[in-house]
Formats: sequence, C-alpha cells, structure tokens
Amino acid sequence: MNIKLSNGRVIPIEMHKVRIVQKTTLPPIGERLRAIEEGGYNTFLLRSRDIFIDMLTDSGTNAMSDNQLASMMVSDDAYAGGESYYKLLEAVKDVMGFDYCVPVHQGRAAEHLLGKIFVKPGDVIPMNYHFTTTKAHLEMAGGKVLEIYRDDALDTVSSNPFKGNLDIEKFKQVIEKYGPEHISFIRMEATTNLIGGQPFSMANLKEVKEVASRHDIPVVIDCSLVSENAYFIKRREKEYENASVEAIVREMMAQADMIYLSGRKSTCVRGGLIATNNPGYFETLKAWLPVYEGFITYGGMSSKEIEAMAVGLREMVDYDAASSSADLIEYFVTKMVERGIPAVTPPGGLAGHVDAIKFLPHIPQSEYPAGAMAAAIYLASGVRSMERGSISMDRDSEGNDVPADVELARMAVPRRVYTMSHIEYVVDRLDWLHQNRNLVKGLKFYHEPPVLRFFTGKLNALENWGRTLADAFKADFGSEC
Ligand code: F0G
Repeated sequence: MNIKLSNGRVIPIEMHKVRIVQKTTLPPIGERLRAIEEGGYNTFLLRSRDIFIDMLTDSGTNAMSDNQLASMMVSDDAYAGGESYYKLLEAVKDVMGFDYCVPVHQGRAAEHLLGKIFVKPGDVIPMNYHFTTTKAHLEMAGGKVLEIYRDDALDTVSSNPFKGNLDIEKFKQVIEKYGPEHISFIRMEATTNLIGGQPFSMANLKEVKEVASRHDIPVVIDCSLVSENAYFIKRREKEYENASVEAIVREMMAQADMIYLSGRKSTCVRGGLIATNNPGYFETLKAWLPVYEGFITYGGMSSKEIEAMAVGLREMVDYDAASSSADLIEYFVTKMVERGIPAVTPPGGLAGHVDAIKFLPHIPQSEYPAGAMAAAIYLASGVRSMERGSISMDRDSEGNDVPADVELARMAVPRRVYTMSHIEYVVDRLDWLHQNRNLVKGLKFYHEPPVLRFFTGKLNALENWGRTLADAFKADFGSEC
C-alpha cells in the first residue's frame, strides 16, 4: 500500500510484520569477482551465500503468510483423494469461479500439458507476449508462437498504462490468415514478464474474448501474476477504480475458457494449476495428468504446498497483498528515473527493469548487453538480477543467434521480502554503475546449452572487464564492501 506522509511524500508501506527472518551477508568485492567468474558471468550460477539481495526472480521466493505456513501442518498426504486438493478446488471456485482444476508441479508443467493436448503441429498460438518456457513447450508441440502486441509495447520509456494489451486488429488478421481451426488458443499473459511486467486492461481482455468467441477460439490466461494485473486495472483503468481486486480477478476469469498459473508468484508457494469450466477440457487434462505430473489430487505438488496454495489464492486478492510488491516496484522505478537510470516505465508487476541498450549503448546486441549488465550489477552491489534479453532467446533452427526485442536487466521484487532501505541501496549502486558504465564490456559464450541456454550457459567477459570494474569499485568504496 502507498501511504502519504505529512510532508506530502508518498511511500510504500508494509501491511504486514516480519516474524521470521533469514540472515544475509554482503560479500566484499573480491569475493564477488571470484563468484561471478566461477559462474561464467551468469547470475543463475551464483550461490545464495554469495548474494546480498536476491532479485533474480519473484518465483518461489516470496514470503509466505502465517496462515499459509499453518495450513501446511494439516495437509493430507493421501496419494489419491487427499483433502488438501478439495480445499484447493474450493478456493479456485470461490476466487476464480472455475469448477475444475488440476494441480501441476509448476507453471511450465501446465504449459507442457497445454501444448501436448491443445496444440496440433502447424498450429499458431497468438499471445500478447511470450514467456521463455511457454514458447519452448508450445513450439516443442509443433506450434508457432505469434506475438501480437501493440506497436508501442516495446518502448521502454512510455506512459502507456497497458503495454501488455493485445493488438485486436492484428489478432483479426491472424484469424483471417491462418483460419480459426489452426489457432490452438489465444494466450493472454497477466503482466507480460519479458517486456517488463506490463499489464493488459480489462477492456482489452474483453475485446479479445469477444473476437475469439466469434471464431470459437479458446481464451487462455496465464495467471501467474493475476493479482498484480488486477491491481493495475484498479489503479489505471478509470472504470475499475472503485472495484475490489477480488471482483476484478473474478471479472478477468469470466473472460477465460481456461487459465493456468505458476503458483510460485501471486500465490506465494511452489506449484501450479490449470482451471476451467469446460468439462471436456478437464477430462482430457485428467487423462494426461498422471502420465506427466501425478494423480489428479496432487499433480506433482507436495500436499503441503497445495494447502498453502489454497490459502495463497484467497490472500492474493486482498488489496494489501496484491499491492505489496507493485508499490515497492513503483518506488524503485521512480527513484531510478530520478537518477537518470534508464528504467522501464511505467513500473510493472514483478520487477524494476533497466534498458541495457540505453545503459550500455557501446555494447552490441551480439555481445549481450543485458547479460553484461546483470553481471555488472552483481559486481557493483552483491545484488542478483536476471538477464532478459538475447541470452534468454535460443538460437534459430539454422543456429543463428536471435536478437531479443528488448535487452533488460530485471531486478525482481519478491513479495514481502525486501524493504525500502534495500531498494535505496540498489538504486545507489546502480547510480555508481551508471557513472562507470564505460568500464563494462560485452560477453561471449564458452559453454552454451541447446535449449533455455540462459539457465546454465557460461560466458567470458570481453577484455576481462570484470576485473577493471572491480578495481574501480575498490578505488571508490574500499575492498571491504
Ligand atoms: N508464465 C509466466 C508469466 C512466468 O513468469 C513463469 C515463470 C512461468 C509461466 C513458468 O512458471 O517457473 O513455475 O514453471 N517465471 C519465472 C520468472 C521463472 O523468474 O519470471 P514456472
């Protein structure tokens, strides 16, 4: 929640209190240099003990509530018919309005099943933007992902409150070009992860639904960050300013034929689910679930996480929970902009993002500016961020690098984990890095996995720039921090 101080300043305030903590340490610059070199300049390959503030992701890293933790104690571990599943089913019905639901071990497992069941080879799947695992699964099933975002969606500096909107005219053209029978479904990602956590509006979603249903094309919503998208609708779409987050989520869900989610985000657990009101879809999902995930009442999840997800679903539509990280991100982005750091605007739903092409204009895309930026942020601060640029794109079928539409360094803000002083520190070190940006050079792969290479690929720093940057840091701050 944002609160106004008596001097008029608005700050994000925590609507919870901290009752369990985890100690962190800030490894000194020499240690950070060793760690990033060992990790091949890939922040995924750092160990927790080498990290001060972990902004790699908001996935599975959120603070759970006391009620979530308590619920885990009474979970039912029955292989089949476990009571925990029925509590999840009830929560899905109450919060989202769906009668049927299958748990899965995490979001990408849902994407795998959707690809397997609903995508025929040669099909196309239009969407507002892809996510890495979505694209991998739908394309492995023989489909082709078509991104039909609006022309300004990729502008990193923008005042468009809904850059996650789908371009309806382009959607109509896709239907005409491919024919509805070759469109597996249309997918709307609630806050588009890879272009900066940008939401879509309710008006846009309703238009998508209207066009899709005219052609019998199912609408699938990726609800991993549904509460944040709903919160942005409340904040940014006039018609919904007095609606509750809960009511907005219900209205969003009413536009979908099927939804799926990674439970690692808005619901603050580790798991996932697919939900629908279509009995036919449910029967097919139920048939395939035991092959890949597990029996329908656990779907590869631990019963403890299922219990906590049922609670998390109810809690995520609470205004204070839905706004908890979004408001801190808004503060973060505002502070970056004030210091002249090229942050993505407007603030999005999962992270503060920096445009690496603007931050490091001297690094060509073939030398991975966003990857270099993520490594440089770690060196300058002990903060772990994530590359969301060309390293996150796999090579095409001819083996060529595919330049990403945008090169972003993503600093995720897990829900209820970090505070304003953490954010102030991050902004300060980003500012230092910005002033020393010419010391940062590109990266080159020396170990490159064939799929989702960003996870475990290793790279060298061209001209050994990590050492130069570390020396500059020591000269300004000493070798202790
Ligand atoms: N869809 C969206 C929008 C996501 O952000 C993610 C994961 C997934 C699907 C896949 O879910 O990880 O549970 O298998 N995003 C994580 C991230 C990995 O760091 O942004 P998963």
